[in-house]
Amino acid sequence: MSRESAAPYESPELRRVTGPALRPGGLALTERAVELCGFAPGERVLDIGCGLGTSVHHLAEAHGFNALGLDLSPMMLAQARQEHPGLVLLRGEASALPLASASLHGVFLECVLSLAASPSAALAECYRVLRPGGWLVLSDLYFRAPQLVAVDSPLPGCLGGARGREGWQDMVRAAGLELTIWEDHSDYLRQLAAQLAWSQGSATALWGDCGSGDSCRDMNEKIARVRPGYFLLLARKKAERHG
Ligand SMILES: C[S@@+](CC[C@H](N)C(=O)[O-])C[C@H]1O[C@@H](n2cnc3c(N)ncnc32)[C@H](O)[C@@H]1O
Repeated sequence: MSRESAAPYESPELRRVTGPALRPGGLALTERAVELCGFAPGERVLDIGCGLGTSVHHLAEAHGFNALGLDLSPMMLAQARQEHPGLVLLRGEASALPLASASLHGVFLECVLSLAASPSAALAECYRVLRPGGWLVLSDLYFRAPQLVAVDSPLPGCLGGARGREGWQDMVRAAGLELTIWEDHSDYLRQLAAQLAWSQGSATALWGDCGSGDSCRDMNEKIARVRPGYFLLLARKKAERHG
C-alpha cells in the first residue's frame, strides 16, 4: 500500500501553483539530470510515479528519448493520457515494475519515493531494470535537521516518507547503486512554499492536511524544526567489466 490517502499533489491549490509538473523546480531538475547523465536520443527511460505525464512528454519531445511512464493511480494516469495522448503510460507499483531486467538506460523518481510504502523495494526494482551503466535520477524532499524528527508523531504527506541526506544516500547504496551526485535544491522548495503562501495564505498544500487550530500549529512547528529541503541525487548501476 502507498501513502496515497494524503495525496497533496491532487489538490487543485497545489496544481495551480506548480503547474503540471507536481514538484519543486518543475522541469528544471529533470533538465539538469538529463545534462549530467548524458543520455542519447533513442535511449529508453522510465519515469516512475509519472503523475500527469509532464516529464515523460518532455523527455520524449525535447530529447527524443524512448520515454515511458508508470503510476499507481488510475486517476493520475487518466489525466496524463488525456493531456498527452500517445505516450506510453503503464499502471503499476514502483516496487513491482512490469519491465524486463536490464532494459533501461535511466529511471526517474521525481518527488515519488517519499510517498512509496516500500522505498527500498522500489530502489531494488530500479536496480533490476537498469542496464549496467544505467542511471537513477532521484529528486525528493529531505530533512536538513533529521536529528529533530519526532519519532512518535509522523509528519504528513511526502514528509512522512522523507529522511535526512545520509538516510537517502544509504538507501540508494543498499540497493547496489553507486552514488555519483548529491545536490541541494532547497531554493526550489522555498520558492514553491512562498508562492503558495502568497496565493493561499499558507504553504499547507505542500504537505497536505495538518488538521486545524492548535494541532495544525504544532505540526507546522514540527515541520519547520526539521528544516525540509529538496535534493537531486544521481546514482549508477555499475558497468560490466570486460576482460
Ligand atoms: C507528487 S506526485 C509527482 C508526480 C510527478 N513525478 C511529477 O513530479 O509531476 C507523486 C506521484 O507518484 C505516484 N505514486 C505514489 N506512490 C507510488 C508508487 N508506490 N508506485 C507508483 N507511483 C506512485 C502518485 O500516484 C503520484 O502521481
